[in-house]
Amino acid sequence: NLPEPFTVPLPVPPVLEPVRTDATTDYYEITQRAAPVEILPGLRTTVWGYDGVFPGPTLESRRGRTTVVRQRNELGVPVAVHLHGGRTPPEHDGYPLDLVAPGAAREYVYPLDQPAATLWYHDHRADFTGPQVYRGLAGFHLHRDDEEDALPLPRGEREVPLMIADRSFAEDGSFAYPSTDPSLLGHPGVTRDFVSGVLGDCVLVNGAPWPVLEVAAARYRFRILNASNARRYRLALDPPGPGFVQIGSDQGLLAAPVAHDQLQIAQAERFDVVVDFSGYPPGEEVTLVNRLGEDGTARVMRFVVTHRAADDSAVPTRLADVRPLSRADAVAEREFTFRRGGAEQHGMTLWTVNGEPFGAGSVAAEPTLGSVELWRFRAQNVPHPVHVHLAPFQVLGAGRYTRGWKDTVDLASGDQAEVLVHFDGYRGKYVLHCHNLEHEDMMMMANFRVR
Ligand code: C2O
Ligand code: CU
Repeated sequence: NLPEPFTVPLPVPPVLEPVRTDATTDYYEITQRAAPVEILPGLRTTVWGYDGVFPGPTLESRRGRTTVVRQRNELGVPVAVHLHGGRTPPEHDGYPLDLVAPGAAREYVYPLDQPAATLWYHDHRADFTGPQVYRGLAGFHLHRDDEEDALPLPRGEREVPLMIADRSFAEDGSFAYPSTDPSLLGHPGVTRDFVSGVLGDCVLVNGAPWPVLEVAAARYRFRILNASNARRYRLALDPPGPGFVQIGSDQGLLAAPVAHDQLQIAQAERFDVVVDFSGYPPGEEVTLVNRLGEDGTARVMRFVVTHRAADDSAVPTRLADVRPLSRADAVAEREFTFRRGGAEQHGMTLWTVNGEPFGAGSVAAEPTLGSVELWRFRAQNVPHPVHVHLAPFQVLGAGRYTRGWKDTVDLASGDQAEVLVHFDGYRGKYVLHCHNLEHEDMMMMANFRVR
């Protein structure tokens, strides 16, 4: 039932219009509901979508203005909405146990005093994030500021968000997610074969299977997000052409652009890149491939270079002010080990942080507002992409990542990373967790409290 690759046009999610605005704030309304959509040609897939679409509508905000999103829950289950990468007060962060009941609505307030960045919003209900995101509860939130707007980067039709997510489908076109209880109202969890994470056999970009995009022979800015539950990708262009020029990371622009032939992207990470298609002859078909995949998951999407066109965009050699942190800035050091074991639930060995399953009562760290701490993450058993709410960080170690602010760092099994975390913004309780959503649902999450 899967289509020929590169036949379905790439959809671009609609940008949501505010229902009203005043001097300081833009107000939006989103209804979460089930809706039938055509993902596989000729078949119906019921998605759980923000406004009934997958990906959800794109929110755009501007530094200096507050965004308020009223979320109505018309799904038959509780939800929580997290703005991933947002510098958000704790009561609006979508804490996994801070739920919006079925039939209820809730206003999330986002002051977003932070640099322009590719953020995204998604479900964060405790124990059920994996299946609820899989059914479609994810969307882009592009945060902008005047500094970025002043740069001559590609924009308009040539600025395209790409949400990459793998899925499997049943014969009838419905999403095939191996929940032990598909009602999502009883016991959480997935069947035994999937405890390390749920991988699909079809790659969707913006909700379409292996889509195709016609492009001019010009520069394009792609905001690439890996919204997959458990799959990581190593993206490359075939033929390689000029490759990718990375201009931004999870938390916004880099200080200076960096060229890459390949981008390794783990769950929840973002790469903001420019691709210059004028390096290809018109008529060329350029495939975005995944060097970590096989068969259907070895390809992602295709670009077809249709015509020459004027292009007044450029990638400046200086992009943004990024103050590099150093070890000397850290006032404390802490260590977090991500592994399987230490606790059990319903006969299943859980994934844990420092051997402890997630619980609302325990607090693993209490950093001081405004301080910088050195956090050392260790990964065991399998790879774990580690995400910290609220506080952006810089990854220590040469060559590991280009300098810039991140909120998610991927760790290979047996690997460790040291990050300098800046606890900026708000006091209160937040979580850090593995962004393999099946690990997260099986308790690989811990609390920290900024005081
Ligand atoms: Cu993208 Cu705590 O999540
Ligand atoms: Cu993990």
